Amino acid sequence: MTTATLLLLLLCYIVNVSCVVALPPKVFNVMAYGAVNDGTKDNVKVKKKKKKKNIHMAFSAAWKDACEYEGRGRVVIPRGVYALGSVIFTGYCRGTMSFIIHGSLRAPTDRQSFSLDTWIGFRYVEYLTIKGGGYLDGQGHVAWHYNDCSTNFKCSKLPASLRLDFVRNSWIHHIRSINSKNTHLNIFACHNITISNVRINAPADSPNTDGIHIGSSANIRILNSTIRTGDDCVSMVSGSRGIEVANVRCGPGHGISIGSLGRSHAEEPVTDITVRNTTFVATDNGVRIKTWAPSDATSASNITFQDINMIAVANPILIDQVYCPSGNCLEAQSNVEIRDVVFKNIRGTSSSEVAVKLQCSRARPCRNVKLVDINLAYRGLRGKSRAVCVNALGSSSGTQIPSGCL
Ligand SMILES: *[C@@H]1O[C@H](CO)[C@@H](O)[C@H](O)[C@H]1NC(C)=O
Ligand SMILES: *[C@@H]1O[C@H](CO)[C@@H](O)[C@H](O)[C@H]1NC(C)=O
Ligand SMILES: *[C@@H]1O[C@H](CO)[C@@H](O)[C@H](O)[C@H]1NC(C)=O
Ligand SMILES: *[C@@H]1O[C@H](CO)[C@@H](O)[C@H](O)[C@H]1NC(C)=O
Repeated sequence: MTTATLLLLLLCYIVNVSCVVALPPKVFNVMAYGAVNDGTKDNVKVKKKKKKKNIHMAFSAAWKDACEYEGRGRVVIPRGVYALGSVIFTGYCRGTMSFIIHGSLRAPTDRQSFSLDTWIGFRYVEYLTIKGGGYLDGQGHVAWHYNDCSTNFKCSKLPASLRLDFVRNSWIHHIRSINSKNTHLNIFACHNITISNVRINAPADSPNTDGIHIGSSANIRILNSTIRTGDDCVSMVSGSRGIEVANVRCGPGHGISIGSLGRSHAEEPVTDITVRNTTFVATDNGVRIKTWAPSDATSASNITFQDINMIAVANPILIDQVYCPSGNCLEAQSNVEIRDVVFKNIRGTSSSEVAVKLQCSRARPCRNVKLVDINLAYRGLRGKSRAVCVNALGSSSGTQIPSGCL
């Protein structure tokens, strides 16, 4: 520490202010901690300087030192391929943190690793930036055939590639996630996170590979990103509040979904959601709100889908309150209340005849749903596109193709 820094810290102490920003950023390069970028050796298990005791794992050790640094600690992962086992980076840290991935991180392929819920996790961190243009390679192809969740209700979940739990005021940008075993990026109990310029890629037939899955979190932005995957591009469940999705390209995948909601007891409301300027290409759904039938009571409200381009999408506009994959819930009703939903300036093509479907619950009809300037043509053999509304209350205005059913 220089004399100048010391004097500055002393001054901070005397006037009792936090001087975190005054310290220069400091690099903690994983190579200095014994990381190996040959693509085979597991970096979590690499020993630091061959000490018998106090064995730190290379990435974790770099993180720990950066986390203890009072200025901006920058964990740097240079170019190269790093085989990395499951690892959780935990705060709280003394200063702010950057995690800069220039290289490619490769997930484990051994079966024991499949039973974990996380490949790379960050917990209890504030002011974290994850960036660098690098790759998270989930190696999903070795694990997808173990996913039997479509037939087995008690299936064990495969690990998400990147999991943020209790992370606040953070930014993830210029990161690529490929072939996650399960969800690519899972956001839980987080606040004020921006995700921008990320690229997410997995095959259309990879099971449960949600792009970005959000729950119990507020103030999350997903901007300027491309998501091609096997499940929802973005899904927002219980307790998602203040979510903005903008300038996103989605497809292949199952579209952008609020829900499923109402399956568990005491789910938190989902509210203040905006999805705008987004293009869907050949997805199974476009913009969707999905609730279980039967279901517990909760709500989804103040939701706007605006300026959206649909290219050969199967269910471009969909409210589905009769979600029942087992198929034997004919008379069951959803208790999720859906209100104040706007679909505005949504144009393009539907690959199925029913381009607009608002299938609401008889027990709790949807209220104040607005269809404004909808232009969705059916590209197929059966004639024109159609709209179907069941138990939906609201209004339509402007262009209505198919002709509105509200
Ligand atoms: C939200 O997080 C960003 C990124 O760290 C930060 O710059 C900004 O100040 C935070 N906003 C609030 C209101 O704390
Ligand atoms: C996202 O893109 C918009 C327009 O293309 C641009 O104005 C904005 O600065 C970008 N934001 C981020 C965080 O990349
Ligand atoms: C809409 O999104 C595209 C990328 O998907 C971007 O190039 C364009 O600038 C965005 N438009 C606005 C008005 O933000
Ligand atoms: C609805 O949500 C938007 C953000 O999507 C927010 O700006 C607005 O204040 C909310 N409206 C109400 C009435 O809460």
